[in-house]
Amino acid sequence: MSDPRALRDLAIQIAHSIAPELRSRTGQAHTLLTKSSNTDLVSDVDLWSEERITTMINSARPDDEIISEEGTRIHGSSGVRWLVDPIDGTTNFIYGHHGFSISIGVEIDGEPMAGVVMNPLNGEVFAAAHGSGATRNGNLIQVNTLTDLSQALVATGFGYTADRRRSQAEALLRTLPQIRDIRRMGGAALDLASVSCGRVDAFFERGLAPWDVAAGLILVTEAGGRVVTQQPLSGSTPATGANSSKRIQNTEENPLLIAAGVGIIDALTELLLEAGAHQGP
Ligand code: IPD
Repeated sequence: MSDPRALRDLAIQIAHSIAPELRSRTGQAHTLLTKSSNTDLVSDVDLWSEERITTMINSARPDDEIISEEGTRIHGSSGVRWLVDPIDGTTNFIYGHHGFSISIGVEIDGEPMAGVVMNPLNGEVFAAAHGSGATRNGNLIQVNTLTDLSQALVATGFGYTADRRRSQAEALLRTLPQIRDIRRMGGAALDLASVSCGRVDAFFERGLAPWDVAAGLILVTEAGGRVVTQQPLSGSTPATGANSSKRIQNTEENPLLIAAGVGIIDALTELLLEAGAHQGP
């Protein structure tokens, strides 16, 4: 048996042990590689962070599956799966901007059960375990209770290929006049954490990977919010728990994810579908 609170606490402990190195190396020159396009960066510190995090998880829980952004795949037999983004928001990390984080999500039998998003620059730790609520630095947090979409401050993000960015920008053109404003902070995990604590009212993006969102999803739902996704989020990975979320009937290869409080999620979903935010390369 795996207690979601114990999984959450292990993730917190691991994030704390990685954070000082990330804090001390942000904004410095790093070995840079590129991935899906020449703007999709990976640094030597991403690889270092991944190696440390996955080794610590594997030492503590050798029967669990681990999937991490930069390529680590460890098979497991326990039904527990860890989804790790060793630095979400690598561009922010490389330039020394706020908005990057360590993101560690945990699923049990395919359902999000625990998650931790840590901002190494200010030490903020967002954490959640199924049924135990969401916290920031140990204090319970809640999503905003806004009901008027025109007043919503909405975070979003863009993929790395030119074609996807063009289509995302076109959808944004149709969305922006209908809401208060947009924020593009550069890290989906912290964007979702920001929804969970009411720093923004909502977040949406198409084309995210499971490790970008695994921790953030449980933060939002445990903070009283809802998540809507296209199915599948990626491969066989279910995006969200069945109880607090719903899925758009669509099987796009690069699914749209929307997170918000219950007062605006339906209106926001309708607006984004009308704007075509769910379609494109
Ligand atoms: C990226 C960030 C960014 C989002 C991209 C992601 P990475 O993750 O979360 O905000 O817009 O779609 O790929 O590559 O920095 O881990």
